[in-house]
Amino acid sequence: MSGAGFVSFVGAGPGDPELLTLKAVDRLRRADAVLFDDLSAGPILAHARRGADLVGVGKRAGRPSPRQDHVSRLLVDYAAAGGRIVRLKSGDGGLFGRLEEELVAVRAAGVPFEIVPGVPSACAAAAACGIPLTRRMTARRVQFVTGHDAAGRLPEDIDLDALADPRACTVVFMGRHTFPALAAALIVRGLPPNTPAILAEAVSAPEQRLQRMTVETLAAELAAYPGSAPALILMGPLAEGGDA
Ligand SMILES: C[S@@+](CC[C@H](N)C(=O)[O-])C[C@H]1O[C@@H](n2cnc3c(N)ncnc32)[C@H](O)[C@@H]1O
Repeated sequence: MSGAGFVSFVGAGPGDPELLTLKAVDRLRRADAVLFDDLSAGPILAHARRGADLVGVGKRAGRPSPRQDHVSRLLVDYAAAGGRIVRLKSGDGGLFGRLEEELVAVRAAGVPFEIVPGVPSACAAAAACGIPLTRRMTARRVQFVTGHDAAGRLPEDIDLDALADPRACTVVFMGRHTFPALAAALIVRGLPPNTPAILAEAVSAPEQRLQRMTVETLAAELAAYPGSAPALILMGPLAEGGDA
């Protein structure tokens, strides 16, 4: 595919346009087409130049997500037409962002690309709560984990013993629906039920909401009402102190 376009995989950060990198803004300004997910849309797209193709590839209005192979195909098709393509992903594209599938597709098609990192929502959530993700004496390890597999269930191969370690800080992505089951499994493995936990919703957006609870009370709350805003669950020593 010589003479093909160039793809920039750009991390859009958690949603606040002020958390975009200068490089992200530059690539958006120069793009001929921007393929974006729901969580990377909003005011961030205002940085795209007038006339650029803005193509939503996330789930909207209750419709199911477009299949990943369809998104990869679309990306390669845009690149084949030439020009500069931005593939915008929320947070840092390399964290639970299905970046791998799209890298495989562009590599296979011989399309040149770059990866522009973004601010992960987990880091923005800790900042919004006024807490560090690590603590010198009490939390020497931080672990990011997904709360759901491709079918939306708690992944079966999740390392429960590591997650039950009360000295580790854990951030659960996409865990609203599965957290009650995860919390129960961790408590069985010895995680104290009163371990501090924070539910961080719509981080950095005007509707941001931060709620501090314990693992046990948060599990009960999410079992009763999972809610729908994008949310992270922070638990462990990191959830002590701060402003949430
Ligand atoms: C497909 S993952 C993408 C994560 C992204 N690559 C990152 O680095 O943050 C989407 C999940 O990230 C979390 N997330 C992303 N943006 C968020 C935000 N602004 N507030 C809270 N959670 C967010 C939620 O758990 C959401 O379901």
